[in-house]
Amino acid sequence: FKTLDDADLSGKRALVRVDFNVPMADGKVTDNTRLRAALPTIEKLRSGGAKVILLAHFDRPKGRRVPEMSLKPVVAPLADLLGAPVAFADNCVGAEAKTVIDAMQPGDVLLLENVRYHAGEEKNDPEFARQLAENGDLYVNDAFSAAHRAHGSTEGIAKILPAYAGEQMRRELEALDAALGTPKRPVLGIVGGSKVSTKLDLLNNLVGKLDRLAIGGGMANTFLAAQGIDVGASLCEHDLADTARQILETAKASNCEILLPIDVVTAEKVEPGASSAVRELDAIGPADRILDAGPKTLARLIEAMDASATLVWNGPLGVFEVPPFDKATVEAARHAADNVISGKLVAVAGGGDTVAALNAAGVTKDFSFVSTAGGAFLEWMEGKELPGVAALSS
Ligand code: 3PG
Repeated sequence: FKTLDDADLSGKRALVRVDFNVPMADGKVTDNTRLRAALPTIEKLRSGGAKVILLAHFDRPKGRRVPEMSLKPVVAPLADLLGAPVAFADNCVGAEAKTVIDAMQPGDVLLLENVRYHAGEEKNDPEFARQLAENGDLYVNDAFSAAHRAHGSTEGIAKILPAYAGEQMRRELEALDAALGTPKRPVLGIVGGSKVSTKLDLLNNLVGKLDRLAIGGGMANTFLAAQGIDVGASLCEHDLADTARQILETAKASNCEILLPIDVVTAEKVEPGASSAVRELDAIGPADRILDAGPKTLARLIEAMDASATLVWNGPLGVFEVPPFDKATVEAARHAADNVISGKLVAVAGGGDTVAALNAAGVTKDFSFVSTAGGAFLEWMEGKELPGVAALSS
């Protein structure tokens, strides 16, 4: 794919797809990570003399103009971060957009209203993509985290205008390639989270690519139960026992060593500060709920990290939102960060809960790369082609 270094920017109207689907409460942005992620692209375009026209979605208004899903609250925090004014147009297509765009000077920045106010966006209607494209000379996709959607502003428009990857998109793709495409070996994966059922494709893809895979969180219970271990009152998808066994078989055939918990932390209730116990796997009582990995499991995971050159991480190892059940996740994250700092490990993480867990551990800035993507990161880990990325190469 082409990057901004390949583009002639001067005086051009650059339509830039960003992901401003940010956490918001009472009409205020509560986490500006995704706004900050867009700054390098915006700044590069401005310094190249382009007119920067930002396209984004917010939430899921399903083709209707839902006032609570306006992108307007993003304008002020974005302008603060940029240190420059950001204009806003009430519609991403039609006369309202055109009038404001016609008045733009090189270096100006404009945010267009939610593309999902139009049904044509999610339908990837070619006519809608054409209306979007009418307002630009070139298209930049900087929204890796929305690239799993084949929509008008992520896919359709890239077929009409000369298309480039933005800086954040390029960084994401390079980091993901370093983690799974052409990684330094051995590669260790950590996959956690509550359910195996949501991560089947991901596990099946990873076992063919990794040297070791540590499975944690609630989903590990399903694997333990599939091996005949009584998991008591723990979250467990008993109907997936055969599937879990099959994943273990595939891993064996692919020479991927699977690390399942060898001890666990249990409690009868999921409450902050709940009285908890470390249990061996043969000592889990009927009322016990497994809520975190135990100390031996953590020690073995740390050993595996020390023996690895690359780590790719998705999903927490326990109920990290409720201390003390955050212990294994936090300690493993800190150890990974230390190994990155000392130059021994490339550590890449992504996916909604994972980023929250790394933030809680205070190590996000020390990882080699933390993706801004939720669903797109998972689909990429599943080995799927992302339509927004594919459209940049075609
Ligand atoms: C995200 O927040 O993960 C992306 O912006 C995609 O949003 P969506 O799941 O509503 O398509």
